[in-house]
Amino acid sequence: MMKDIKDITIEEARIELEYLATEIAKADSAYYQHDAPYLNDAEYDRLKHRNSDIEARFPQLIRADSPSKRVGATVKSGFSKITHRFPMLSLGDVFSITEVEDFIRGIKRFLNTSEDIAFMSEPKIDGLSFSARYENGIFTQGATRGDGTTGEDITENLKTIYQLPQKVENAPEILEIRGEVYMSKADFFDLNERYEKEGKKTFANPRNAAAGSLRQLDPQITAERKLSLFAYTWGEVSEKPWQTQEEFFQYLKNWNFPVNPLNTLCHNLTMLEKNFNQLMEIRASLPYDIDGMVYKVNSISLQERLGFLTRTPRWAIAHKFPAEQALTTIKNIRIQVGRTGALTPVADLEPINVGGVIVSHATLHNEDEIKRKDIRIGDTVIVQRAGDVIPQIVQVIREKRPANSSEFIFPHFCPQCGAHAIKEDDEAVRRCTGGLSCPAQAIEHIIHFVSRDAFDIAGLGNKIIEDFYHDDILHTPADIFTLEKRNYGGDDLFSADIGLHIERKEGWGKKSVENLFNAINAKRIISLPRFIYALGIRQTGTATSLLIAQNYGNFKHFMNDMINKETAKLVAIDGIGSSMATDIVEFFQEPHNIDIINKLLNEIEIEDYVDSTNYNSPIAGKTIVFTGTLEKMTRSEAKAKAQNLGAKVAGSVSSHTDFVIIGADAGSKATKAKDLGITILNEDEFIALMQ
Ligand code: IVH
Repeated sequence: MMKDIKDITIEEARIELEYLATEIAKADSAYYQHDAPYLNDAEYDRLKHRNSDIEARFPQLIRADSPSKRVGATVKSGFSKITHRFPMLSLGDVFSITEVEDFIRGIKRFLNTSEDIAFMSEPKIDGLSFSARYENGIFTQGATRGDGTTGEDITENLKTIYQLPQKVENAPEILEIRGEVYMSKADFFDLNERYEKEGKKTFANPRNAAAGSLRQLDPQITAERKLSLFAYTWGEVSEKPWQTQEEFFQYLKNWNFPVNPLNTLCHNLTMLEKNFNQLMEIRASLPYDIDGMVYKVNSISLQERLGFLTRTPRWAIAHKFPAEQALTTIKNIRIQVGRTGALTPVADLEPINVGGVIVSHATLHNEDEIKRKDIRIGDTVIVQRAGDVIPQIVQVIREKRPANSSEFIFPHFCPQCGAHAIKEDDEAVRRCTGGLSCPAQAIEHIIHFVSRDAFDIAGLGNKIIEDFYHDDILHTPADIFTLEKRNYGGDDLFSADIGLHIERKEGWGKKSVENLFNAINAKRIISLPRFIYALGIRQTGTATSLLIAQNYGNFKHFMNDMINKETAKLVAIDGIGSSMATDIVEFFQEPHNIDIINKLLNEIEIEDYVDSTNYNSPIAGKTIVFTGTLEKMTRSEAKAKAQNLGAKVAGSVSSHTDFVIIGADAGSKATKAKDLGITILNEDEFIALMQ
């Protein structure tokens, strides 16, 4: 029985406040960091109230780490967001030296040169990237990469990493340094050992430990875990006195940022290969994990000419180390059903440690793959893991096959809904024909709809979607935005209570339901590319969605064209082929899809697409067609430049075309442009226009 507040002594109050601070912090961490709450809402609230009641009577005892101070920030929604002035990109991956060769060949072709290009070769640190902003030499803001456009504000957390300079002498007025935060292997083992003793959950690998430590709402916890970092690139800078990546590293060192001592300038492919092999040899003995090498064109002016693809630079690439392998046995083979109905076989494995990560499942891709490798339940197999890729089965060890084993028979019916599963001639996969009446497809469809590049509703996790689907409260994406309305039914005695009352379900409470609705309501306005991607049209990924958004600008225009099968504008987009166009049009012929879209449009707002970055340029929003051979730059370079200035590049001339740029030996496109009265520019005129 708790003592009445008016009866407790100051010493008892001090002890109880200390106890409450620890208990509430533990509950918060279970709830916010591990998604594993162990107190129900009432129990949690009781602790909180008790804490504030005691504090009200003994304000002199309010602790620095008091839960009443912390909670505001904690409960809101965790970290505040930071929009990167320059997106934080990722890198394309390659796994062999031939692919590196192709990469370099592509660069040379783009630049139209046959000379060797020098690359900086850097170990690829397996941690998580950060950005640190300095204004007049003072550290002012830290951020995670997030989705590349928006990250989380980790300023306070970064301040606790002693390797990060808080002040930089002789820095440009604005200096944003980017790099990787990691945990050394030794610190990782120490941390896990300590956690093991304390009965806490341990981390799977140093990378997870670093991520878990940096993304702590309480920077105190970040401070307690040992984190290190390497700096390797820049974001926004008011001045850029370096001409090469090599020179940039010199600046970093002068500014006291840790720079990886193994970064090496390589003058040609042979040197890159030699360096790669050397690093692979010493990899295990390094004090931190690396998962490959990063090659960056050394010259900054060449980097600028090469520019970017959608999410990755054209001037850099990650060359990954070969996957790590281990031996284990297959306990079972299960069939998963994906969003598009594809049946994917998955092997359940005897859990095994593969290069530091416990692996218990592996994908078997499709039925042909199982046949080709003759994979059976009970087999001993080699599994491999490469980076974040889902573990795979490389090979069956035949000598170890049990005598009674039999060939795996792939089902011809969907294991989820019983519908026929058929295989089309040109496809490797067998698909369930149940469409959205198949629970697995419907669920996967919703999971895709809320995923990070789509609506990005983190509060609506896979498990919740599955539960809600089976509880009949969430069948289509449109149901998401009516959940709140449907949740609260009339509660008085005379009217029937028709509400869903999710808060009464096991595992839910008033607060968690409110959090969910807030998370959903925060996403009622969505950008056009995200919305198109969210629809889950076959073959329409983020890049295609962006292209469509850039070319149509408005969802209804796009939808009307698709419903009326008007594809001229669509197929004119460079990067959209006829098979993609067919899938897109087919999607809009399905009444069920139109129904869902219309219901969604009642609940949400889709922003028109405006290319805000470049709307000042004279070619922004214009459609350009190139024809003939250019002399001052390659076609790809011209195309990339035009796109960077907000123009759309089309493959063929139509009435939608604004400019046709003609090089030497221009053919029928030039004639057609003349016929249609479209502005024709030669290469010099085009360059002048861009400037
Ligand atoms: S440069 C535009 N350099 O790898 C260039 N990245 O897949 C962007 N990484 O998100 C990155 N070591 O987290 C670069 N020396 C290095 C790196 C490195 C590790 C990580 C980084 C990035 C990811 C790209």
